[in-house]
Amino acid sequence: MKYNFDEVISRIGTNSAKWDGLVESMGKDMISLSVADMDLKAPPVLVEKLEAAAGHGIYGYTDAFSPYYEAVQAWLKRAYHWQVPREWIVFCPRIIQAVSLVIQKFTAEGDAILIHTPVYQPVAKAVTLNNRVLVESPLRLVAGRYEIDFEDMEQRMQQGIKIVLLISPHNPVGRVWTREELERIAALCIKYDALIVSDDIHADFIHEGHEHMVVARLSEEIAQRSIICTSPGKTFNLASLEISNIIIPNDAIRERFKHALQQSGIHNPTFFAVPALEVSYTASDDWLEALRDYLSGNIAFAKAFIKEQMPELRVIEPEGTYLLWIDCRAVDKSESGLKRWIEEMARVSVSFGSSFGAGGEGFIRINIAAPRSVLKEALERIAAVYPLKKT
Ligand SMILES: Cc1ncc(COP(=O)(O)O)c(C=O)c1O
Repeated sequence: MKYNFDEVISRIGTNSAKWDGLVESMGKDMISLSVADMDLKAPPVLVEKLEAAAGHGIYGYTDAFSPYYEAVQAWLKRAYHWQVPREWIVFCPRIIQAVSLVIQKFTAEGDAILIHTPVYQPVAKAVTLNNRVLVESPLRLVAGRYEIDFEDMEQRMQQGIKIVLLISPHNPVGRVWTREELERIAALCIKYDALIVSDDIHADFIHEGHEHMVVARLSEEIAQRSIICTSPGKTFNLASLEISNIIIPNDAIRERFKHALQQSGIHNPTFFAVPALEVSYTASDDWLEALRDYLSGNIAFAKAFIKEQMPELRVIEPEGTYLLWIDCRAVDKSESGLKRWIEEMARVSVSFGSSFGAGGEGFIRINIAAPRSVLKEALERIAAVYPLKKT
């Protein structure tokens, strides 16, 4: 194979949030399947580009010029069939910053903002940290698949919602929203006059049989109230370089957002960010294809392993993302019991369900974007001390 995703590369000593944080808190013997970045090397062309950039030696201010916009436009067209004029694209270092700024700029303290739970918490926390009211519409687990409870959502929207925060595809439950679901969400936003902020950071990992639809593509009417957050951070494993593309079709909304960026003193990208995005979006298609194959293999491996060794666990079929959301309630409904088993006894770090808010208790999220041998060892450790193991 052209790309060796089996290579195990230690990240300890790189200030890795996922690994070095764990060494400090739990010790060196842990395996981490938690934070959503990959333990797999970025595309070789990206590494070469950054090596060359590092060698230049002058790291002064940079900016986003035409090639940046052209690369983003070409990517949106190729990846999501979305033709976007250059003016719609706004650089922002991180998606969570963009979400937070939108909340600050387009709502007032005490306003209500809706999200579907369980959910990646930094997005939900952007609401509460800014003193807005977080309205949770719980997803329903129906026959092993999460669904939006549209009746519940509408009831909550009737009470006055300023923004719907959509995670598309959803983290942690792995749903890729269908066109029909997006149409219903869009109709509610139009009916109740809410903005829709769609966080599409995981949109480049869509599994067979599913298709990512950018909500703003549905109609001009919904585009005019949409803010779409995209990023190469997950896709090409460059999250720490801090570059995201916020796409805003509505002129007035876009100008207000740009003003919010200025107010916060956010402007130039870092030296490495723009070259990294450009080479990723324009010269890494074959790497991404190989990566997707590898991740599909990891998902298949993990599902088969769990089915055989820990059959009481229920893996929620991921439609997108490199995350697996696993129902462990047959083992223990309480998180303390799951922590004892997985963290203390097996020495594996996963993301426990309660860290995703309501509806998460009794579940874990594992990140399968690692060399298969690492994933295998982690699962073997968990299985070796599985509380329901038949002896
Ligand atoms: C749904 C979602 N949004 C946003 C982020 C973080 O994005 P950023 O680092 O650009 O703020 C993550 C990272 O895990 C995520 O899962």
